[in-house]
Amino acid sequence: MLHDEVIPILDFGSQYAQLIARRVREKGVYSELVRPDISLDELRKLNPKGLILSGGPSSVYEADAPKCDLRIFDLGVPILGICYGMQLGAHILGGQVKPAKAREYGRAKLTVAGDDALVRGLPADTTVWMSHGDQIHELPAEFVPLATTPTCPYAAMKHRDRTFYGVQFHPEVTHTPRGEQIFQNFLYDICHCRGDWTMGNFIEQTIRHVREQVGMGKVICGLSGGVDSSVVAALLHKAIGDQLVCIFVDNGLLRKNERQLVESTFRDHFKIDLRVHDATEHFLDALKDVTDPQQKRKIIGRKFIEAFKREAAGIDDAQFLAQGTLYPDVIESGHGYAGTAANIKLHHNVGGLPAELGFELVEPLRELFKDEVRRVGEMLGLPENLVWRHPFPGPGLAVRIIGQITPERLRILRDADEIVLEELVANNLYRKTAQVFAVLLPIGTVGVMGDARSYDSVVAIRAVESQDFMTADWARIPFDVLATMSNRIINEVRGVNRVVYDISSKPPATIEWE
Ligand code: XMP
Repeated sequence: MLHDEVIPILDFGSQYAQLIARRVREKGVYSELVRPDISLDELRKLNPKGLILSGGPSSVYEADAPKCDLRIFDLGVPILGICYGMQLGAHILGGQVKPAKAREYGRAKLTVAGDDALVRGLPADTTVWMSHGDQIHELPAEFVPLATTPTCPYAAMKHRDRTFYGVQFHPEVTHTPRGEQIFQNFLYDICHCRGDWTMGNFIEQTIRHVREQVGMGKVICGLSGGVDSSVVAALLHKAIGDQLVCIFVDNGLLRKNERQLVESTFRDHFKIDLRVHDATEHFLDALKDVTDPQQKRKIIGRKFIEAFKREAAGIDDAQFLAQGTLYPDVIESGHGYAGTAANIKLHHNVGGLPAELGFELVEPLRELFKDEVRRVGEMLGLPENLVWRHPFPGPGLAVRIIGQITPERLRILRDADEIVLEELVANNLYRKTAQVFAVLLPIGTVGVMGDARSYDSVVAIRAVESQDFMTADWARIPFDVLATMSNRIINEVRGVNRVVYDISSKPPATIEWE
């Protein structure tokens, strides 16, 4: 979509590039990542109100350091360089960059000098996050210093005549608590943005856009029960009403009550044409005696496509398929203007549908970050327990039942998992954790139940905190909550006599056990 106000970010490979875009958007201005070598014409077409040059791992003096078109200053819009971006901007404008004597990494005290627009509103002393090897060594006469740290004489600066600003620190990270003031100043006082990026506007524009794209055509949307596909369905329903048909495949590997939640939300509440395809038998038959995790994933992926096709075949003249692709997927899959950051690919995407199905794609969330998707979901009236759902893997409980998948083992895991979630919610920990679930282990252990010896299964509880699911730490769930979970599982779930807690971080462990 074309936006009236855009702040493109030239991504020089910063691990924080996406975070910069999120911070700008939080201030109400649309921002997206672009390749550093984007042409001036392409940039102009985006309608930029200003530009941000991101940080990056290189030194501007390395031969293969990423550069941008040296004429970016001819665009006539304000430019903010962050870390590497500041050095590159200064370099282009003739400043000297030298490796710092001490590499600065971590928190530093920033002292603001003067009252320039970029640093206005900051306290005289504030904490900032530094992470760099090079720093500006000498400031030629055309530059004015705006702030210093004890080891960095030019922690913020600007050009005298051009609207180029640079900060050596990272205003986008939470370790720079007043970083948002820098973005506020840059966007509103320097770029004179109006701030029209709101989720209300997004919904309105997207509805118009979807109507234009599909006309009177019919759209199929695969619902998974997760946040993204749920928001897609609710948004499309608002845009095109009865032209939307949703398909929900019950693979027999869902959590307890998952299918009911989808049915009650979409069929009963939104009155959407929802087709539930129960393929439990197909999946469980195909998974019989399969214990290898990758094999499980392959079978489930294949069966899902078969089931989806069977159901879709019963929907006449559908031309479009809706998908919940988000902005980070777009960046990571190298479409659009992929950045240069070394992205660790998600290694699994069971639940995806192949292009051969022959539908034209409708992807209304392509521009959004996850937190924006959630806000859209709330505005569309989706229930809180759907909007704030922890992610659930496409292969479902199959990768949480280590070893063979049988109806009896599914029952045990579902019951145990339900207790874990109930206690999590009851203790107000659901929103504080990223993903929490039970895992069924393929071993029996000895116990005593009453006076009798038991030989039953072990359930593991996995609870993690994570921002992006690429890395995660085990959640410090209070012992008494764990105790309640354990007591309830052992007392209430037939076939379990032991509960253990997983205290591994990712890496080197993964979040799921398979
Ligand atoms: P791992 O286990 O790799 O998981 O640390 C990272 C995130 O991905 C989810 N996950 C999957 N999602 N299909 C999916 O759609 C899969 O096969 C799959 N395996 C893991 C996992 O739940 C976590 O959120």
